[in-house]
Amino acid sequence: MSVDTMSSDDLRDAMVDQLVADHAAKGLTMRPEVEAALRVVPRELYTPGVPMEEAYRSDTAVVTKRLGDETVSSVSAPWLIAEMLGQAADALTGGLHGRHVLEIGSGGYNASLLRELVGPSGSVTTVDIDPEVTERAVACLAVAGYGDVSVVCADAEQPIDLGRCYDLIIVTAGAWDIPAAWIAQLAEDGVLVVPLRTFGMTRSWALRRVGDRLVSHSQRLCGFVAMRGTGAHEMRYVDIAAGVHLRLDEGQQVDPESVGGLLSQPQEQAWAGVGLPPRSVLADLDLWLAARLADEVDQFVVLSAQQEAVDAGIVAPAWRFGTPAALHEGTFSYRSTLRWTDDTFDLGACAHGPDAAAAAGRMAGHMRAWVDAGEPSPVLHVLPAGTPDGALPAGTVLDKRHSRLVLTFTSA
Ligand SMILES: C[S@@+](CC[C@H](N)C(=O)[O-])C[C@H]1O[C@@H](n2cnc3c(N)ncnc32)[C@H](O)[C@@H]1O
Repeated sequence: MSVDTMSSDDLRDAMVDQLVADHAAKGLTMRPEVEAALRVVPRELYTPGVPMEEAYRSDTAVVTKRLGDETVSSVSAPWLIAEMLGQAADALTGGLHGRHVLEIGSGGYNASLLRELVGPSGSVTTVDIDPEVTERAVACLAVAGYGDVSVVCADAEQPIDLGRCYDLIIVTAGAWDIPAAWIAQLAEDGVLVVPLRTFGMTRSWALRRVGDRLVSHSQRLCGFVAMRGTGAHEMRYVDIAAGVHLRLDEGQQVDPESVGGLLSQPQEQAWAGVGLPPRSVLADLDLWLAARLADEVDQFVVLSAQQEAVDAGIVAPAWRFGTPAALHEGTFSYRSTLRWTDDTFDLGACAHGPDAAAAAGRMAGHMRAWVDAGEPSPVLHVLPAGTPDGALPAGTVLDKRHSRLVLTFTSA
């Protein structure tokens, strides 16, 4: 059957089959209740004006609002929604049934999946800062038969309904910090699922509340439109060469010309000397590198590049959409392309500048240490700003406006 002649039900089933297969390829298992909800909710009702086959692409978000060049609202990609719902259900003891949920960032689709998952004894509230988005969500939810989802227009940096607590808060915009309101609105053993940027890299973290702090249960690689309002936090890209960019956090400064100039200096390459199997997941390694390098180098940054710049040999990043990089005493280093031998690969680092051999060696050494330690995964601890150093767990500390984040690593 061609996609042109497939019904909504057929397209939806094909999408969910793909999502289940993608989960398996990543070593994840889709929870049956998440799969069941995905097979029921008609996604095309939340993407009016978009061809039905596009509404059922498992890997694409449907943009619903732009301001200039920037996408400010979308119906999130099904693969990401499915993974985040799975994270939520796994982290909540007893799962999602009967739970009271606050979704931050509305579109309607995810809220209706949540409505299916919590069942009649649960509730779903969705909040968006943008009245156009909430009006649209109200209309789409009504058409799809989910008129009992509460839709609120507000900046979610502040509490939505003073005194009300939720079992789950699921954030669907990219956050830089965890405002106090989110923790205050979580039930004692509640879960916050949030795409959070640490060291310039965003992961969807499922965090469980333990008293006044949160501790992570899982994390997934992800990308989201940025949080707006009082919690907005600028992320900038600076061009250092044709098609080569550095991603900088607020407050970070680099001189693009001098860093770009380093790229034309001779390159030193170092190897970790490891042999990893094909499906190894390196997202955890990138956070490990960030945590190790942040205290050692002048600046930890993220390098990204256009395919043309890679083809032209200007840079050779491990992942051109965002690879760990460091600037230290006039030398630039980054995690570089993998080196394959038969069916295993080695991890590399390359560097340019006066101390290039040492910088590449330092990065390769940290990568070898990660493999030697059993490829540990990050655990994120979120504590209120003002928590004294002595009360923090031992790990790499990242201070935000409202919270102190600590990254630790644990082997499976
Ligand atoms: C990716 S969209 C949400 C997708 C949606 N959950 C779905 O079902 O596909 C992100 C939304 O977050 C909203 N947003 C951004 N900052 C916000 C804030 N401070 N408070 C509430 N909503 C916010 C944006 O207006 C945007 O509509």
